Amino acid sequence: MKLFAVFGNPIKHSKSPIIHKLFAKQTGILQNYIKINVPINFFSKSIRNFFQNGGLGANITIPFKKEAYKICDILTSRAKYSGVVNTIKITSSKKILGDNTDGIGLLKDLKNLNFITTKSNILLLGAGGAAQGVIYSLIHFGCNITIVNRTYQHAKDIVRYFKNIKKINYLKIEDLSYHSINNINYDIIINATSSSMKKKIPNIPSSIIKPNIFCYDLFYNKGNTPFLKWCVEHGVKNVSDGTGMLIEQAAYSFYLWHGIIPNTKKIIRKYI
Ligand SMILES: NC(=O)c1ccc[n+]([C@@H]2O[C@H](COP(=O)([O-])OP(=O)(O)OC[C@H]3O[C@@H](n4cnc5c(N)ncnc54)[C@H](OP(=O)(O)O)[C@@H]3O)[C@@H](O)[C@H]2O)c1
Repeated sequence: MKLFAVFGNPIKHSKSPIIHKLFAKQTGILQNYIKINVPINFFSKSIRNFFQNGGLGANITIPFKKEAYKICDILTSRAKYSGVVNTIKITSSKKILGDNTDGIGLLKDLKNLNFITTKSNILLLGAGGAAQGVIYSLIHFGCNITIVNRTYQHAKDIVRYFKNIKKINYLKIEDLSYHSINNINYDIIINATSSSMKKKIPNIPSSIIKPNIFCYDLFYNKGNTPFLKWCVEHGVKNVSDGTGMLIEQAAYSFYLWHGIIPNTKKIIRKYI
């Protein structure tokens, strides 16, 4: 049977195997999709072992997306522009092809939810692999992005990476209060930090929250994540976790491996 996997650390929470099982059933493809928990310094070795033992493709998750970019021999343009890789496959000439489906997956879900327009002003919390991976698609769609991160330097590094793009800037967390005092409004707040995984919320002032803002957490959970609960407590009406993004990004990964795009609406309905 064709072998696929998701590599990460931690990986226990991942719902990718369930989603890929549903895609395989829907499209009649026989595949086995497993979770692989990778010790922090063994990422490239684990990938090499996987391909040597018959693996055909994989998803890469926290915290290996930037490392995955470095081990690829060939990159799709989405992966090249974003500088992070969440999907890989082995080609017939034994090269590792890297793609980034997080950005397009998030954008598709935000459109499904009617959270986004081409003019949306987005506050992006976080500067890890997921944050970097979604920027290209959001900017390409037309949005403006402000990045705020716990470690200021990491936010600066991402903006430096996208140096030729004018629609992206960064702020110190403490400057957010100053922004809200000056009535700079965000249309969407996207939590791309891993804080919800640790049952924490990013340290941002509640003054930036307005009732008509859309709040999205990339993390997914049964019920609202800690960040989304906090948003609702502060009056936000429209919130969503990252389940839809997870399903949409998985569909684009499935397409890279099998050349078939599954019907995601049917799968999303099972989860909502
Ligand atoms: N729904 C989906 O399809 C999907 C796809 C991709 C990722 N995700 C989720 O996105 C999240 C981030 O993943 P990643 O790959 O970007 O991880 P990562 O590369 O390890 O980056 C983690 C980020 O979170 C910040 N952070 C961690 N703990 C924090 C806290 N307590 N308060 C504030 N900031 C904190 C880090 O800030 P510092 O720079 O200061 O360390 C960094 O910016 C994870 O929860 C992951 O499950 C979901």
